[in-house]
Amino acid sequence: MRAARVHRFGEPLVVEEAPEPIPGPGEVLVEVAYAGVNPLDLWVTRGTVAGGSQPLPFVPGAEAVGRVEGRWVVVRGAGVGVTRQGLYAERAAAPAEAVVDLPAGVDPVQAAAAPIAGGTAWALAHRVAEITPEDRALVLGAAGGVGSLLLQVLRNAGVRAWGQTGDPAKAAFVEEQGAERALVVGAEDLAGAVAELRPTVVFDPLGDGYTAAALEALGPYGRLALFGVSAGATEELDLRALYRKAIRVLTYSGTIEPVERLREATQAVLAEIAAGRLRVPVDEVLPLERAAEAHRRLEERRVRGKLVLEVTAA
Ligand SMILES: NC(=O)c1ccc[n+]([C@@H]2O[C@H](COP(=O)([O-])OP(=O)(O)OC[C@H]3O[C@@H](n4cnc5c(N)ncnc54)[C@H](OP(=O)(O)O)[C@@H]3O)[C@@H](O)[C@H]2O)c1
Repeated sequence: MRAARVHRFGEPLVVEEAPEPIPGPGEVLVEVAYAGVNPLDLWVTRGTVAGGSQPLPFVPGAEAVGRVEGRWVVVRGAGVGVTRQGLYAERAAAPAEAVVDLPAGVDPVQAAAAPIAGGTAWALAHRVAEITPEDRALVLGAAGGVGSLLLQVLRNAGVRAWGQTGDPAKAAFVEEQGAERALVVGAEDLAGAVAELRPTVVFDPLGDGYTAAALEALGPYGRLALFGVSAGATEELDLRALYRKAIRVLTYSGTIEPVERLREATQAVLAEIAAGRLRVPVDEVLPLERAAEAHRRLEERRVRGKLVLEVTAA
């Protein structure tokens, strides 16, 4: 079968023939149709996830849509594409609990791109930050996969939200996703730029100087929901910035979420898509053969929303 694999951490993906997976007890054989592309896949290929313990060559890919014995399913969780071989492949063996049914009427491309970005957005808004319509939210990295869906989730919950991007060409896209205002700013100017919003909650996938700026922008009892470090993982913080305003630091990690919770989040997001309340902005569907290019585009921030790989022709 064809699969995109990394042979040495830090090297680009190679699309090649790979051994057929053989499902073990409690596992199912998934014939993958479309796989979503996530920064997680990039970090896996660099050897920075789970301590680089993945067996090499390794197939990344932590979300997909495919068929199990002819039935359409969505796959996410139980270590698939993280600690065990993933979904950038024509076939994959997945634990049965990582599979949920694809609801009728949901486009398979939408469903392939939804579990991680949508499930993360859903969990961050409703379970981690417990948003209410009284909140005023600032979404950093708003043009990305999670950011764009988070803006839609917040809009649906009646929460005012502004979205940040570093790229003026993405500002209109950010507003289309539900941001009342798109801010084109870097970390240095962020706190000043959101003074008028007076955010009660900041969703932060960036880290680096953005986290300090977010703390400065928040008022008393504000919540910081940190879930990624795309801009940098280390940051010098004056700890007084936290306690003097009694800031609540909240975090989220999908890779340690129990699989039942991931299933619930996936099903919630698929139901929202089926009802027409969420739409995953899919920038482009690329053939599996272009998996390395997909990773490069993500790395170079040349994506609005999500990229999807077409693994087997529809
Ligand atoms: N904790 C979890 O369970 C979880 C789940 C999903 C994702 N994540 C993490 O959350 C982050 C976002 O995920 P995603 O899928 O939304 O990624 P994405 O689609 O690549 O979007 C990330 C956005 O962040 C901005 N960005 C990237 N690098 C940056 C840099 N060096 N400086 C400033 N801005 C930068 C880019 O915005 P502009 O180009 O518009 O400025 C980009 O659109 C990633 O780090 C990912 O690993 C964590």
